[in-house]
Amino acid sequence: MAAENLKWWQKTIVYQIYPKSFADTTGSGTGDLNGITKHLDYLKNLGVGAIWLTPIYPSPMVDNGYDISDYMGIDPSYGTMADFEKLIAESDKRNIKIVMDLVYNHSSDKNSWFLESKSSKNNPKADWYIWRDGKPDGSAPTNWRSIFGGSAWTYCEERKQFYLHTFAPAQPDLNWENPEVRQALFDAANFWLDKGVGGFRIDAITYIKKPSEFKDGKPDGKDGMSGIHNLTANTAGILDFLHEFKQKVFIGHDIFTVGEANGVAPEDLNKWVGKDGVFDMVFEFSHMNLPLKNGEIWCRPTEWKLSELKKVLSDSQAATKNNGWCPVFFENHDQPRSVNHFFDKNADKIKAAKAMATILLTLRGTPFIYEGQELGCTNVAWNSIEQYNDISSHGQYDFAIKEGFTKEQAMEFVHFFSRDNARTPMQWNDSKNAGFSTGTPWLFVNENYKTVNAENEEKNPDSVLSWYKKLSKFRSENLELTAGDYKLLLPDDEKIFAFSRSLEKNSLITVVNFSTEPAELPKEFSNKKILIDSESQPEKNLLKPLEARILRN
Ligand code: GLC
Repeated sequence: MAAENLKWWQKTIVYQIYPKSFADTTGSGTGDLNGITKHLDYLKNLGVGAIWLTPIYPSPMVDNGYDISDYMGIDPSYGTMADFEKLIAESDKRNIKIVMDLVYNHSSDKNSWFLESKSSKNNPKADWYIWRDGKPDGSAPTNWRSIFGGSAWTYCEERKQFYLHTFAPAQPDLNWENPEVRQALFDAANFWLDKGVGGFRIDAITYIKKPSEFKDGKPDGKDGMSGIHNLTANTAGILDFLHEFKQKVFIGHDIFTVGEANGVAPEDLNKWVGKDGVFDMVFEFSHMNLPLKNGEIWCRPTEWKLSELKKVLSDSQAATKNNGWCPVFFENHDQPRSVNHFFDKNADKIKAAKAMATILLTLRGTPFIYEGQELGCTNVAWNSIEQYNDISSHGQYDFAIKEGFTKEQAMEFVHFFSRDNARTPMQWNDSKNAGFSTGTPWLFVNENYKTVNAENEEKNPDSVLSWYKKLSKFRSENLELTAGDYKLLLPDDEKIFAFSRSLEKNSLITVVNFSTEPAELPKEFSNKKILIDSESQPEKNLLKPLEARILRN
């Protein structure tokens, strides 16, 4: 792609903030908007040009904001609309855009829309959600299992009917077939555009279109239910809704959109992104789901090979090669920390974090850094399920027990895949509560904060944070890394991840040893100039465990 045609969001780095866990300025134990404003210079120094905020709207917080009760407000625990406007103004001064999260598959069950909808079968919003009668025996309309576990249907006494929820019962699915619903959602997005936001991340969007007929699925667990994802994700007709969304909201604004598109295969990506697509980018999850048994969303770990990871990442790179663009990401608020997710459990976490960063910042696409990833934050492992806040960890635990696993095994799955791994408070320094809050944090702080923290790492030139800054600067100075073509090298090697990024006659090569053993470097790499290396004394023909290197071809 010609470098001069790149848009601002293709040349920048996006940083994802989980506001509840980022920085608390009031002592409430919960992060807030002023906490984000306070740390804008930290993000600027990292080379960040946009911040994706997970939902900050009023919410009962059953799913920490992904259950919205008012689409045009700010939750009081995060501050006020004036605080938000200040955040936008201060970000603007630093040339950083604020990107909002649109949760449009479902609302909260406390949203006034739902309260009205459930009040009777003939109120003006009766059809704003998905209501069905039960089966003749009174059981749920279908055997669909929600993504968080348990039936995807909840009975409502007032209407004597069931409503559908792809996620928790507190997150009823909106009925996108109803044009009034779509208009209300588009109005809310336009409201935020008027406030000056720089883009949207669109949540769980592959679930908005439901099948024309609601039928039982083949049971895939001992509970007799069938996971809703395989039955409703990416249903034909969904793109019509999204084209309308694009026309009525996105078009004509200098913003970017990124859809959460679990269920869209790489071969379908060109209908979703690019010239005739609906979004600028979509999060495609093949690489994140690789370490999970059967590709189930919240499930137990399984064996995987580096060659498979390289293949799925290369497939999505290939799918957007000539049309479209992709985000590059290895962490978010729903995923384990990448040093635990993708590396041997005995791997040195600092080296692993640098290895991951090198892939993240040199692949083609817009890199998304999730808060704390730049510090090399790791998973936690609390003793009992009661210590976990994440609603899906509870569902996953109960599901594992029902499937016949022991409590210890169920906890192992939770340790591996709990979303709380990524939601522990940001580690700013080695003072009380990692400098996150003077009150009692809403979630336990990771106990490694005494060493893994921003203040410490800022002072240390060999830290993970310093490595991120170095690569971020290198990326901004080498056009090959933004505009260059991607080519996978050594596809079958099970230790080394290597690829080139070429623009006209210039080419850079990334080589990363993903294993905890040394890896011999094939001859064709050993005569190239080393530009950057994570080891202080690199050997030409050998990579030390987890060593990351960038070469000039
Ligand atoms: C998305 C969000 C996740 C949330 C779910 C329901 O997957 O990333 O955090 O729980 O949607 O809104």
